[in-house]
Amino acid sequence: MTQQPILITGGTGKVGTRIVSLLRRRNVAVRVGSRSGVPRFDWTDQDTWKRALAGSKTVFIVPHDGELLTRPFVQQARDLGVERVVLLSGRGVDVPGYAGDDNAAGRTHIDGEDAVRSCGLAWTILRPGWFAQNFSEGFFRDAVLAGEVRLPAGDGAVSFVDAEDIAAVAVAALTEDGHEGQTYELSGPRALTIAEAVELISEAVGRTVRYVRLTVEEFIAHLEGEGWPKADAVAYADAIAPIRHGMDEHLSDGVQRALGRPPRDFARFVKDAATAGAWRG
Ligand SMILES: NC(=O)c1ccc[n+]([C@@H]2O[C@H](COP(=O)([O-])OP(=O)(O)OC[C@H]3O[C@@H](n4cnc5c(N)ncnc54)[C@H](OP(=O)(O)O)[C@@H]3O)[C@@H](O)[C@H]2O)c1
Repeated sequence: MTQQPILITGGTGKVGTRIVSLLRRRNVAVRVGSRSGVPRFDWTDQDTWKRALAGSKTVFIVPHDGELLTRPFVQQARDLGVERVVLLSGRGVDVPGYAGDDNAAGRTHIDGEDAVRSCGLAWTILRPGWFAQNFSEGFFRDAVLAGEVRLPAGDGAVSFVDAEDIAAVAVAALTEDGHEGQTYELSGPRALTIAEAVELISEAVGRTVRYVRLTVEEFIAHLEGEGWPKADAVAYADAIAPIRHGMDEHLSDGVQRALGRPPRDFARFVKDAATAGAWRG
């Protein structure tokens, strides 16, 4: 086992858990960066950063969306002897008008990418598009379970990327040479509309799950009806806007470039998630 653990912030999330298990399978020492980790790591409590970073030469960063904390974190990491960082960002951050000027996650990613590129450490940036696992572990899961995915996504298609691929690229960048200075944009191998994605899930689980096209106004009113604050409802609608505008349907070559193989198809994600019981109520 390597003595110096790789720190995986977000190590309990969709991407981080997969990185942790891939590394452990290779007998690489890992420290899970989480508010429930030992030592505890909390983005909002800078006193916890030093102990989480202590002794690590390599760090995976899942940033704290809405805050500009990646820069001071990377500076502290460098001061403590970290040599390599891999940052999880998002596709579209460099596309004008992608998610609106007020997008909090976008600001976090733009500042975080700049901080990582200018910190003097070896760096790799991952820019995934929409995760397939949003349907099984994220934003859309409850709607899938309820049988209706209500979104203002029009007929826009999305080249959903499997978090397994994001994690595999992250592991390559964390453990192998040759990925320094690379920005990997990551997508799946084809674009699907929300209706098509939901139909595949519906077939796999054997019950009806349908896509309900909403206008932006209907969507915001629907979320407010569920108790969402207006600002959060508007922010969610803004996050969906790129799908409606066809800005997420292009394919990216990052998985192929980083791993020398094509990305996993959405149908394989659906099969694996259904087998794992992701949509059992
Ligand atoms: N979902 C998408 O389609 C998509 C697409 C592109 C980019 N992204 C980006 O991906 C990132 C999210 O990655 P993910 O989906 O793998 O994560 P996730 O499943 O949403 O999990 C969030 C992670 O962040 C940790 N976390 C939350 N608050 C924290 C705090 N105060 N201090 C320390 N850790 C904290 C959580 O750990 P604990 O709760 O255990 O502390 C957990 O490990 C975001 O930056 C997002 O912008 C997402």
